[in-house]
Amino acid sequence: MAILMDGKALAAKMRLQIKEKVEALTAAGTEPALAVIIVGNNPASRFYVNNKKKDCAECGIRSIEKAMPEETTEEELLAVIAELNADPSIDGILVQLPVPKHINERRIIEAIDPKKDVDAFHPENVGRVMIGQYSFLPCTPAGVMEILAEYNIDVAGKNCVVIGRSNIVGKPQAMLLLHKNGTVTICHSRTKNLAEITRKAEIIVCAVGKEKFLTADMVSEGAVIIDVGMNVNAEGKLTGDVDFEPVSKLASYITPAPGGVGPMTRVMLLQNTLKAAQIRAAK
Ligand code: GUN
Repeated sequence: MAILMDGKALAAKMRLQIKEKVEALTAAGTEPALAVIIVGNNPASRFYVNNKKKDCAECGIRSIEKAMPEETTEEELLAVIAELNADPSIDGILVQLPVPKHINERRIIEAIDPKKDVDAFHPENVGRVMIGQYSFLPCTPAGVMEILAEYNIDVAGKNCVVIGRSNIVGKPQAMLLLHKNGTVTICHSRTKNLAEITRKAEIIVCAVGKEKFLTADMVSEGAVIIDVGMNVNAEGKLTGDVDFEPVSKLASYITPAPGGVGPMTRVMLLQNTLKAAQIRAAK
């Protein structure tokens, strides 16, 4: 039976550490601040933004919300970003995605000052991850690396398989595992013989977005399983991508979902905001 990797507990521990650092920085005259922009009425986005504000409050990070209506134009959104870029009291800027269809998401991401891009979605920060010279790491893959470190799972030399090739998770995840000297394979929807590849993996990061996608026949005994999935099943319950019961009987370590990667993604945003404020304070 696998050891459960408790992302919820690790995130809570990290929030306490972040809170201490935020308080010290604030006392020394730099109050860390995050600006969150939400455009439109997407209920999932509203839920995520509320969580971000709650997380900030818990750690003493000042957060401001710019809620803009669905019919906001791209120019109007760019103007708000420009204002926040120029505001020296704001450390991090996050535009909650997706933005409405009439707005060009790329143009928005590229308008954020890379020094305030706490999502690490700007091409400059994406490139910095590639060369290993970064201030910010994208939150989900960075959270996964924190979980692996917490449970003393050494990546060096291991066969790591990342399933999913998104810009936000799969691609940067592969790079972070590579930086830790893993031997990394990226699989995706066009991969042939997926199970053959995953059965050779010592570490699997599954970021597909389909309930019970990773089944026991795809996993070797002793593998470390990281479930990045966040799906709502037919009964309306949150689930990951991994067929948890049978896979956990084979794995050495496994993240639950919910309660694994999700809380870590959230805490890494706080970590990035703190980092941005530390850089501001050092100037
Ligand atoms: N929408 C869903 N996940 C994310 C995220 O990590 N960052 C932003 N900005 N929007 C999201």
